[in-house]
Amino acid sequence: MRFVVRPIELQDVPQCIKLRIDNLGSLIIGRLPPYEGYAEEQEHSMRKRLLNADGSSGHIHFMKVVDKDGDQSEVVAYARWEFYPKGLSERKTLFEQNHGNDSDKKVDEFWKLREEAVKYFKRCTENIQGCPHILLALLVTAKEHRRRGAGSLLVRAGTDAADKNGLPCYLEASEEGRSLYQHHGFIDMETTDFDLTQHGLTGVERVTQMVRQPVPKKSEMKPTPGILEREVTPGIVLCFAVMLFCIVFPLGLNPYTRY
Ligand SMILES: CC(C)(COP(=O)(O)OP(=O)(O)OC[C@H]1O[C@@H](n2cnc3c(N)ncnc32)[C@H](O)[C@@H]1OP(=O)(O)O)[C@@H](O)C(=O)NCCC(=O)NCCS
Repeated sequence: MRFVVRPIELQDVPQCIKLRIDNLGSLIIGRLPPYEGYAEEQEHSMRKRLLNADGSSGHIHFMKVVDKDGDQSEVVAYARWEFYPKGLSERKTLFEQNHGNDSDKKVDEFWKLREEAVKYFKRCTENIQGCPHILLALLVTAKEHRRRGAGSLLVRAGTDAADKNGLPCYLEASEEGRSLYQHHGFIDMETTDFDLTQHGLTGVERVTQMVRQPVPKKSEMKPTPGILEREVTPGIVLCFAVMLFCIVFPLGLNPYTRY
């Protein structure tokens, strides 16, 4: 097994959407079942984005993991990274394109939860304000390939790009993904619990907004200056003079008492 990261191509779209629905449903909060026409809608929008025909002007990058030693047409895992080097305004426009239509919300009996989710993601977007950033918008690995490093490869692909560009990364983590993200340097910003019992479901869905600050490459890091490389200030000179006097005086080498 040799996992590698590759860009997603048009022929991967149905597999990716299936992978997403099988593992995340039609909404990560509550893993809601897909409503009628959901899969087709998602395939259409992913194709449009891959062809860059949705006005996102290259902000969205889809990446997949395949096994070089296995069937390379199988998508083992996939991710959607979004780049906003100029900050919120670009993300806001895209967010409004995705969630702006009110009629989308009442597609099934879970519309109230869908509405709550839209408000939540909008708030997460606002938390970031105008900050230039990279966003991990989606990550999913097929059940049979989990805990083999596929998710990590996709996280690293984005964090490496973020480090190169000196940008922070943000994401909204499920409880399943949180510890993986922590291992990659993400820290919690805000945790929100959604009470699913209010929506005819069971349990609580916990989602955590997380951030990772860029790490400069070793070659870009300035070494901590050694004592001799530090600026010699009058304070340091005075300190040395006092230390020298304290050593010389008790040894009887005081120049004033020699004769
Ligand atoms: C979250 C998710 C994407 C992780 O994908 P993955 O491919 O299993 O990720 P990795 O294999 O890189 O890492 C998962 C764990 O396996 C461990 N691992 C990685 N390679 C390993 C190996 N060769 N042997 C043993 N463990 C390994 C990692 O350290 C990590 O441990 P941790 O959870 O304690 O941090 C996957 O569980 C998933 O799709 N969940 C459902 C959808 C979801 O919740 N997505 C996240 C939305 S924010």
